[in-house]
Amino acid sequence: MKETGGFSMQTIHPDSVPKIILNDGREAPCIGMGTFGSDRFTADQVAEAVYGAIKAGYRMFDCAACYGNEAMIGDVFQKAFSDGICKREDLFIMTKAWNDMHGDGDILIALAKSLKDLKLDYVDMYFLHWPFPNYHAPYCDVDSRNPDSKPFSVERFMKTWRQMERLVDMGLTRGIGMSSMTIPKLKAVLPLCRIKPAMCEFEEHPCFQQEELFCYLRGHGIQPVGFMPLGSPQRPERDMEPGDVADMKTPIMQEIAAAHKCHPALICLKWAVQRGAIPIPFSVHEAEYISNLASTIDGDPLTEEEMDRIQLLESNNRLVKGQVFLWPGARDWHDLWDENGEIVQ
Ligand SMILES: NC(=O)c1ccc[n+]([C@@H]2O[C@H](COP(=O)([O-])OP(=O)(O)OC[C@H]3O[C@@H](n4cnc5c(N)ncnc54)[C@H](OP(=O)(O)O)[C@@H]3O)[C@@H](O)[C@H]2O)c1
Repeated sequence: MKETGGFSMQTIHPDSVPKIILNDGREAPCIGMGTFGSDRFTADQVAEAVYGAIKAGYRMFDCAACYGNEAMIGDVFQKAFSDGICKREDLFIMTKAWNDMHGDGDILIALAKSLKDLKLDYVDMYFLHWPFPNYHAPYCDVDSRNPDSKPFSVERFMKTWRQMERLVDMGLTRGIGMSSMTIPKLKAVLPLCRIKPAMCEFEEHPCFQQEELFCYLRGHGIQPVGFMPLGSPQRPERDMEPGDVADMKTPIMQEIAAAHKCHPALICLKWAVQRGAIPIPFSVHEAEYISNLASTIDGDPLTEEEMDRIQLLESNNRLVKGQVFLWPGARDWHDLWDENGEIVQ
């Protein structure tokens, strides 16, 4: 087990974890736990960590159909309920529709499958994992392309979003969210939504802060949920590029961590929470996931000056470039992110 600094094994009372009020009036914890084991951890290992995390005091979990572990995680949710650790209504469970399920009627089928696997009657937040229907096989090489991939289209997106809205009407999810959006795409679709997203997942870590997108979301009452909040240090090699910056190894993070006598991971999380995002760090290691949760209540916040220093780490270091989602005719992964302020089609 790695040195995480500062915290022994402990249970954190879920009531002590700060809460955020969503645009639909619901409360959500200020931190959740990711569940993407990638190719490093089995579904059983991730599920075991989810059970441990519930015992430790986590109440929010970020799942997805494409992580391939919802059935095992569903088992441990049931175990937590039957062991009397928590009730269903105490948890804030999020999951996502994968890109191959955007067609007519597919979104309902996708959520029904997730609910069956998770062994739940409803989820708390259902995300559209990506804003286009571009499928790629799990674990494929970044150079692989699907000839059926299509660029983003407002019309196609809204057809899918209408299906998402119906799931709220049906009571199968309490809220709906978007993920990996850009400001131009949000500008195009938000005015058309009958039910606005309550949350938007976006990549967020000190070396990739997405300040403009973050402010846009907050300005529109959409809660930012930061994925890869630690800069995903263990992501598969296929997702690494020579110029990538390791957030937690930067001198600024190391210095601030030393001043707080903790691991830089906890500085990343304090920064995200103090900024107003909900980070969803992943770990199967008890000492790590407990210290991640404890970082929100340890009474040792970052100073304004430290927050300002972390802001200086911005280096536009996007880790999830999305190459595999490119459509025939697209130039390169930059096309996915509308960097010139217009939707690239
Ligand atoms: N919406 C989307 O499209 C999307 C995309 C990507 C991710 N996500 C979500 O975001 C979650 C997090 O992303 P991620 O797992 O890629 O990246 P991450 O949370 O930034 O990094 C996870 C890694 O950090 C290390 N770590 C965790 N806590 C630590 C601590 N206290 N001290 C030291 N090291 C620590 C662990 O490494 P070791 O295992 O070596 O200990 C772990 O594997 C995912 O699980 C998923 O739920 C969503």
